[in-house]
Amino acid sequence: GKHNIKAEIVSQKKLSTDIFDMTLNVGDMAKEALPGQFVSVYVNDGSKLLPRPISICGIDAKHKTVRIVYRIAGKGTELLSTYEAGTRLNVLGPLGNGFNMKNEKAILIGGGIGIPPMLELAKQLKCEKTIVLGYRNQDTFLKEEFEAYGEVLVSTEDGSVGTKGNVIDAVREQAREGSVIYACGPTPMLKGVKAYAEEMGLEAQISLEERMACGIGACLACVCKSKEVDGHTHVRNKRVCKDGPVFDAKEVEF
Ligand code: FES
Repeated sequence: GKHNIKAEIVSQKKLSTDIFDMTLNVGDMAKEALPGQFVSVYVNDGSKLLPRPISICGIDAKHKTVRIVYRIAGKGTELLSTYEAGTRLNVLGPLGNGFNMKNEKAILIGGGIGIPPMLELAKQLKCEKTIVLGYRNQDTFLKEEFEAYGEVLVSTEDGSVGTKGNVIDAVREQAREGSVIYACGPTPMLKGVKAYAEEMGLEAQISLEERMACGIGACLACVCKSKEVDGHTHVRNKRVCKDGPVFDAKEVEF
């Protein structure tokens, strides 16, 4: 079930220019959280700001914590970044559906602020895996942590590290194979992942979490078109925050 709790900030640090790394004591929520799920963080009780949906980057059931790594993208996250250990925040979660973890050779793909949710997945997936991380430039946050869980390929837009180009360019250049792709990142990247999976005949689970705004079904900013194939083809509107954020790439119409 989902919990609505006052969570205490255990620690917060700056990871790079505009990316922050926060650990929250969330009590029993930590036991239930799964890779690919998210929490909604109510930034300030007194303000009218909507909660911020932030994907879960790490889960520690024993210490009852979840870790979130987020980018400053507006007033809410800017305020969040100023809070210190000991501050209490309302947190709702775990929310959404996580990745469906299979025991098959995997390719994990994260782009930009879609990288953090792949870390807990990389940790929990016990099969052989290749991890592909797409960055803008040499600011390759979290890369070292991923290296503990498998081979890491990097792509950068400016070519400063790894393959110049996007994550699919890196997968092709290094000729890496797998049966299932798990991916999270911006829409253009996910479109590329969907096309690549179709071309190679692979299953792809994609998280559209970047499309979310309020995270609690209130704003409808996250609606996407989804195709359900059950003999007939239906196109339906789905809310990423309620029906996702993880979808089978075959279902998503971009
Ligand atoms: Fe607001 Fe889904 S993010 S309704």
